[in-house]
Amino acid sequence: MNSDEELQKLHDEFSENTLTNFYLPFSIAPNFLINNNRYSIPMVIEESSVIAAASKSAKLWAELGGFKAKVISKVKTGQIHLIYLGEKQVITSYFNDIKSYLIKSTENITANMKKRGGGIIDVKLSDKTSDMDGYYQINISFNTIDAMGANFINSCLEQISKSFIEKTKKYKIEKNEINIIMSILSNYVPDCLVKAEVSCKVEELNIKENHHNFCEKFIQAVKIAELDISRAVTHNKGIMNGIDAVAIATGNDFRAIEAGIHAYASKNGKYTGLTKAKIENGVFNFSITIPLALGTIGGITNLHPLVKLALEMLDNPNSDELMQITASVGLAQNYGALRSLITSGIQKGHMKMHLINILNSLEATEKEKKLAIEYFKNKTVNNSNVQNYLIKLRKSDEV
Ligand code: MEV
Repeated sequence: MNSDEELQKLHDEFSENTLTNFYLPFSIAPNFLINNNRYSIPMVIEESSVIAAASKSAKLWAELGGFKAKVISKVKTGQIHLIYLGEKQVITSYFNDIKSYLIKSTENITANMKKRGGGIIDVKLSDKTSDMDGYYQINISFNTIDAMGANFINSCLEQISKSFIEKTKKYKIEKNEINIIMSILSNYVPDCLVKAEVSCKVEELNIKENHHNFCEKFIQAVKIAELDISRAVTHNKGIMNGIDAVAIATGNDFRAIEAGIHAYASKNGKYTGLTKAKIENGVFNFSITIPLALGTIGGITNLHPLVKLALEMLDNPNSDELMQITASVGLAQNYGALRSLITSGIQKGHMKMHLINILNSLEATEKEKKLAIEYFKNKTVNNSNVQNYLIKLRKSDEV
């Protein structure tokens, strides 16, 4: 990249009708130990205290062996939705006969992905006629290796949907008897799963409180998120503070990740918290299992200079590693939130971090900020307290 002008043009072209850039803080959460590797994690988020909470949890758990994370499965899917009002047996045998042709017809799209060890895993026809007259799906599963793979999947789907109506003549199906409604990937990725966990002996937990009381309260807090939707949504929102921040820093589609994770949170018909906590044989264990379709190649990953930097900071991970890192950050975030909620409450720490925003909104000078930060070290921070403090300070000789 040679000039600011070229860089700006690159940014403008990520989207359409671009007016300017929209800034967010690019922060770093140090001291993460994940599968015995140290990470300083790039996170993009505007909310105060999220980075502080993640870093604090990371440090606490690094002293206790860190996060253990593993990818459980990595399959993504796409669907072709179609209507066929004829005999089920006719479309089923037609599908079975041309299945290998359907896969073959995508060869020029899948060649590179195949070289990397990925591609189409399987193509299946599902009968959905009990849900809607004539409704069938062609469900296609994919391995997209290190790419998130949305464009790859959608291109394969559109090719297969074209190929699907090409051979009908021989099977005595009229072309227009098959009505393709749409072809699109699914952001529901329950088979693209990662688990992250931390554990230690109950007595080893680095806390001021009685260890057993703390653990009991912690487990109850997690249980409440499992039982109650109002709490579950907030519980999960805190997890997403971390996950979205890493997703944005690494150029991933955080809307897809949000949609997939929240759907997974209600996979059993009831929306529930995403983490689990237990004590077994005196060992406290805290874990998260979530779907995360993340990519480390493709999209804007090799275009956006800050995304490139973020990936470099993580030692250019592959997508499995990025899934493990991101799930660990989500878990750290939830640990930090619950630890505060069941002890001091969330506001004390949060408002301390937010103080600077209140001071900035009141146009405090650097000297006033310094004095206010010192003054509020042991006092409750809220808008009116800070405002009153500044009024008094400005009347005094101190500034
Ligand atoms: C705030 O952004 C997130 C929390 O509300 C999460 C939680 O309540 O677990 C603190």
